[in-house]
Amino acid sequence: MSAKIISGNEVSQQLKDEMKEEVVKLKAQGLQPCLAVILVGEDPASRVYVSNKKKSCEYIGITSLESRLPAETTTEELLQVIDGYNKDKSVHGILCQLPLPKHIPETKILRSILPEKDVDCFHPFNVGLISIGEVRFLPCTPAGVIELIKRGGFETSGKDVVILGRSNIVGRPLSNMLDQRNMNATVTVCHTKTKNLKERCASADIIIAAMGVPEFLKGDMVKDGAVVIDVGINRVDAPGTEKGFKLVGDVAFDEVKEKAAAITPVPGGVGPMTIAMLMKNTLTAAKETMK
Ligand code: GUN
Repeated sequence: MSAKIISGNEVSQQLKDEMKEEVVKLKAQGLQPCLAVILVGEDPASRVYVSNKKKSCEYIGITSLESRLPAETTTEELLQVIDGYNKDKSVHGILCQLPLPKHIPETKILRSILPEKDVDCFHPFNVGLISIGEVRFLPCTPAGVIELIKRGGFETSGKDVVILGRSNIVGRPLSNMLDQRNMNATVTVCHTKTKNLKERCASADIIIAAMGVPEFLKGDMVKDGAVVIDVGINRVDAPGTEKGFKLVGDVAFDEVKEKAAAITPVPGGVGPMTIAMLMKNTLTAAKETMK
């Protein structure tokens, strides 16, 4: 059996088309959704991410504002830019691209974004809301994972889910979301000190790999018919190729696809979903202002 490939490119395109239609209706009601993106410094990967976010905004009809600040920007200066967007009623979402230069404390910056405009869902207030089942926003990558499972046609209720990795951005919020009453999964979060990892994975109905180790999850760790979602994006050397590297996930794709019922590819799986969910959060934030 070879697994169904759940394409994040296709699902995210579908979502963006749905949002594009929704924005037409919102504009007719006098609401112009707007996202402000802040980029500090010249990190090449961050520049690509920010440019992709802007392109998605344009496609959907969301206004995007961008503040590009030099790497030497002080914490105070950055806080002032955020404060300006916090006070601007025409701005619905604020995103400060990470990583920040080392001299700027990330926690302080992320907590300065008004929770109502925190479309990344990194503010502890919004994280806390998820854990008590009162969701305002969902963090973008975990929300993308869940959307892929749902739109792939798979049920989470009553299923055993193993999450590999306990990061604040992916593993931890996912576990918080999946065992809520709307998802009803039984979740095990695994990490570097977990015992019997192979056995735990091999008994899971759904495995979400998000620990950042290239091709960690092997075929013999997956039960027949499991659903496997690969959140990893790792650069590995590929001598002789044009770029000299290739992108691989945390899943040994070729092996695991022979056992799984469904699997997401890297690239083209979870990656494109993250931006689509950011757009969704921006629309949520905008619509909240009409209530
Ligand atoms: N850097 C890499 N991914 C992300 C993300 O999802 N949000 C922000 N703000 N920065 C990032």
